[in-house]
Formats: sequence, structure tokens, C-alpha cells
Amino acid sequence: MDDIVALCKRRGFVFPASEIYGGLNGFWDYGPLGTQLKNNIRDDWWRQMVECPPLGLDGHPTQIVGLDSAIIQNPQAWIASGHVGGFNDPMIDCRVCKNRFRADQLEEYECPKKPSKQAGQHEKCDLTEPRQFNLMFESYAGAVKDDSSKVYLRPETAQGIFLNCKNVLDTMRVKLPFGIAQIGKAFRNEVTPRNFIFRSREFEQMEMEWFCHPDEAIQWFEFWKDQRMEWWNSLGINLDRLRLRDHDLDELAHYSKACVDIEYRYPFTDPGYGELEGIAHRGCFDLAQHQEHGKVKLEYFDQDRNERYIPNVIEPASGLTRAVLVLICEAYTPDDSRPSKVYLRFHPRLAPIKAAVFPLVNKDGMPQVAENLYLDLRKQYTCQYDVKQSIGKRYARMDEAGTPYCFTVDGDTLNDQTITVRSRDTQQQQRINLDQAVEFLTESIGA
Ligand code: GAP
Repeated sequence: MDDIVALCKRRGFVFPASEIYGGLNGFWDYGPLGTQLKNNIRDDWWRQMVECPPLGLDGHPTQIVGLDSAIIQNPQAWIASGHVGGFNDPMIDCRVCKNRFRADQLEEYECPKKPSKQAGQHEKCDLTEPRQFNLMFESYAGAVKDDSSKVYLRPETAQGIFLNCKNVLDTMRVKLPFGIAQIGKAFRNEVTPRNFIFRSREFEQMEMEWFCHPDEAIQWFEFWKDQRMEWWNSLGINLDRLRLRDHDLDELAHYSKACVDIEYRYPFTDPGYGELEGIAHRGCFDLAQHQEHGKVKLEYFDQDRNERYIPNVIEPASGLTRAVLVLICEAYTPDDSRPSKVYLRFHPRLAPIKAAVFPLVNKDGMPQVAENLYLDLRKQYTCQYDVKQSIGKRYARMDEAGTPYCFTVDGDTLNDQTITVRSRDTQQQQRINLDQAVEFLTESIGA
């Protein structure tokens, strides 16, 4: 994991937030390559969920619409959702080392004073009783700072969807079953943020609430489980490192009737697994709560069944920033045969830079040809132009960035209008015609 974190910093994927001031625990900045990778994952998810959703149980097209709701909502919404009363983690402090631990995960921490022992197991440890700690960040809306102006930063994007379910039904001519999808920031004042960007205090989620008839909810739950596993696999994640794990009854969140996690074998959990996405059967909990607290009818009249009911909800909820971590871990490939000793084997669809263009040397007309090629390619693909240092060092930089192809303009190009293409994964080079570069990328990567 240390090597991965170092590469992320070195190549501009992820930086500690406010680094020049010593950082801020639980907060991260995404650099140029991290942002592009995140955007690529986000766009792929949006395409699969909203623009081109899978065929449904009956083989007919499903309907999912997008949303971008406010991060700060009326605080009543968080009372109704159960977050003000119950979105807590049990917290324990050590009076000796002054460190704070999650009481329910004590076995996962080492004692900071004696790392060979578990936290609390060293004879000098002096732990407090567990206390409940609410994970929502608070702020104040408006000029007056008192309880009447207190607001919360959303700890999940899901509630914004429930609050807008009626608006969508009233305006979009959708009918059950249908989904509303949202991608955006969420904030949790985690007791112990850790494992790089795995658990941070500010992160991004990709959530979809699937509204359906209660009698069909279990079938849709199974449907989305399969769809979501297929999607992760389509991003190039090996199924050997993914698994589905059903929640035990005592693990279920307050709103959940059933839940399954898609888990990944992270370097820091190996040989165990850690959560990547949760797929929950939320029943009608959220809409019923908002109906009661908001005093607005949120029932749906089903014309086909001639029945009025509060829809059930199946929710595939994943972390976008956690997906960035998984894709970097999955792509990280040590290889002693190359100068960089490591390369990122991203699925070409997700690679932040699709191609690089190099003039072999910075003279003899090569930069002009290379620059024109670069200008041509970047109309369709994220490309980088690099003239600095030896060609070997430039390949090494692109290997660490996970760029699938590098095009080099050399002395022969000026004579016969051909260039070399070097493939990241095989390190093999081949010659193609200069005017076939765009076609080559389209065939290798897709449009
Ligand atoms: N609406 C349901 C919900 O929020 P969750 O399991 O608490 O469910 C969904 O969160 C996903 O969000 C998780 O599977 C994880 O990928 C991501 N996530 C949750 N807390 C996170 C954190 N502190 N840092 C990064 N990602 C987080």
C-alpha cells in the first residue's frame, strides 16, 4: 500500500489535502490524473445507469433518470431519515496515549505505545467507556448561529433522491419500476479515517434508488446484485478479487430489510476483503418517514394494478472515490523488466491519458510533426505531448500514469510518414502510418 500511495503522489493521482499546512486527517485532493480517472469512472457509471441502463426483468428497457440535489437540505430531512438519531459510531478514547478508536473495531487497531499489542491490551492502556458519536458534520445557514439555523452536510446522496421522488414522478412521466441516480459529495466525520482514500471524511458516492412494487422488490434486489457485479468486472476488476457478502441480521442498517456488500480484496485487507459497494433492500422506510415528517403524501398510484402504495426501494450505493482506489490497486503491476519497475494496467476505457506523443529528439523537424499529430489526437482522446528527457524516461512516466499507447515520431517519419506505437502492456513496438494513428486508437480503445 505504501508503494501505491507513493505512486499516487508522484504521478499526480492523489495528494494530501492542505499539504503545505501539514495536511488534514481524512481529506484528500485529487490531482490531474486522479481527477481524470475519477471522471472516467463516474461517466461509465452514469452511462450504465442513466443513459443506457440494462434491460429489466421482463427484457424491456428500464428507466433511470439523473438528479443533482443540494448537499445541504432542511435538517428535518435528517431527522426523518434517522441520521440525527442513529447515524452514530461507538467511540473510545485512551486516556494515556490520547488516541481515539472505533469501539466496534478495536481488534483492528494496534496500541500506539506498543504496536505489538492490540489497542487497549497493553497494561498501561486506560480506555474510556464507549460513547456514541454522530458522524454528520454540522454547520449553520445564515447569519445567526444557534440551534434554529443548524444544518448538516449530507452523509449520503440517497436522501436527496427520496426528497425529489415526487417531483420526478410529477414531471418526468416515469412509472414504476424506475430509478433515480445521483453522483456527488458526501461527508462523514469518521472517528478514524484511514487506509488512504478508503475511508475519508469527504468522499463521493454513486447511488441509485430503484422504486418498485413491494411484491417485486426481492427479484429486483437479485437483479441489481448481478448487474453491479458485472459492471465492476467490465472495468477490468478480476472476479477473483471481488466477492458478494450478505449482511448478517445484526449488521443491517436501521432502514434495511436485506443488504449485500460487493467487497474487494484490498492490499490492506488481504487475504480478507473490504466494502466497495452496498446493495440494500430499503423497503418503504425512507418514503414512509418523509411522508410522515414532511406531511406530504408520497404514495404512488399504480394504474396497471389499480393500487395505491408506498414504493419499495432497492439501492446500489457505491463510493466513487473508493472506486478510484480499487482501480489503482487493481492496475498496479510490478514489473522488473521495465525502467519504472511498475506500471498501471488500467482498462483503456478508464486510463486517464489514452495516448502520448513524443518526438524522438527535439529537433530536425520532428517536434512539428509530433505536435500536429498530438493536436489531431486530442480532438477525440485525452493525450499528452512530451519532449523532455530520453525516450526511455518518457515511456517510464507513461507506464506509471497507465497510458495504453505512446506514439513516437522519429527520423524515418520524415521520409516515409510512419511512426512507432508502443503498447504499455507488452512493451512491443510496431510501425504504422502517421495518418492511421486516430484509427489505431479507435480500434484499440474504442471511440
Ligand atoms: N445510501 C447508503 C449508503 O450511504 P454506505 O454503505 O454507508 O451506504 C455507500 O455507503 C458507499 O459509499 C460504500 O460502499 C463506500 O464505497 C462509500 N463510502 C462510505 N463511507 C465512506 C468513507 N468514509 N470514505 C469513502 N467512501 C465511503
